[in-house]
Amino acid sequence: MWQGRVKISVNEEVAPGYFRMVLNAPQVAEDAEAGQFIHIRVNDEYDPLLRRPLSIHRIISRRLKVKSLKLPDIEVLYEVVGKGTKILAGKRPGEDLDILGPLGNGFKLGCVSGTVILIAGGMGVAPLLALAEEIRREEKVKDTYVIIGARTKALVLCEDAFRDLAAKEVQVATDDGSRGYKGLATDLLQELFSTLNLKLSTTVYACGPEGMLREVAALTVAKGVPCRMSLENRMGCGVGACLGCVVRVKSLQSGVESYKRVCKDGPVFEAGEIIWE
Ligand SMILES: Cc1cc2nc3c(=O)[nH]c(=O)nc-3n(C[C@H](O)[C@H](O)[C@H](O)COP(=O)(O)OP(=O)(O)OC[C@H]3O[C@@H](n4cnc5c(N)ncnc54)[C@H](O)[C@@H]3O)c2cc1C
Ligand code: FES
Repeated sequence: MWQGRVKISVNEEVAPGYFRMVLNAPQVAEDAEAGQFIHIRVNDEYDPLLRRPLSIHRIISRRLKVKSLKLPDIEVLYEVVGKGTKILAGKRPGEDLDILGPLGNGFKLGCVSGTVILIAGGMGVAPLLALAEEIRREEKVKDTYVIIGARTKALVLCEDAFRDLAAKEVQVATDDGSRGYKGLATDLLQELFSTLNLKLSTTVYACGPEGMLREVAALTVAKGVPCRMSLENRMGCGVGACLGCVVRVKSLQSGVESYKRVCKDGPVFEAGEIIWE
């Protein structure tokens, strides 16, 4: 884990209220894995006091003026929802930010093989695109399906980027039907399940609003399909010290209930271990 000030090289609005920011942070990018996050101090004032967590969305290469030298940078994708993200949206390229990271456990692909399904709701595309890049390097993964859910057409993010990452199929669901299927992303997951042979190796990765994650957990547990999901609970310290982000879990092995810290033990959990309050 590294902490320090890094320069912003890009901060642009990519959809109404949604921004993409590139940070020159090779110290973080070099160790980062999909599913990990950075904890950002949005200004040098005492308000807001707490850092804001954002998922690592992409690790991209920056070519230096020195011939053939490249450094990895970090890209984040964020929605303006309150004070902290509004301050971030006002930052200009050339300004710097205090960041901490990479934090959290990440998706940990392990020995994934066969079919992989990524299901993202809204801003859930942020960590799943980084994961799609990692999956592309996994030779044992045969087919990758992507399902993106959004409120409306203008808020469907990263559809082309997922296609470029050689997804077998990218499906979109919008609440108002302005793009793709009119309805929930989980309806598309249910439909996809009915067309696949789930006895063959299949793994689901999910990130999005709690309602969607609960439904994905219910569907995958019922079908016995392994599923890992990234939670986005509110956070304090981000490093496991304050217990401000805990989630109730039940061990898949022993059935014993306990609490886990989303920032340190997560943010990625097995769908079946989460106890939804
Ligand atoms: C591990 C992790 C990764 C995340 N990755 C991303 C990302 O890649 N892109 C992104 O846009 N957001 C992400 N989030 C959520 C993001 O951290 C919050 O939206 C942000 O901290 C809000 O700060 P704010 O000061 O703008 O809003 P606040 O002023 O603090 O709150 C404004 C409103 O947003 C709600 N809110 C605040 N935090 C959260 C949260 N964590 N989940 C749901 N609602 C919240 C509040 O209840 C309130 O209604 C992530 C959260 C976690 C824990
Ligand atoms: S945010 Fe402090 S323990 Fe997780």
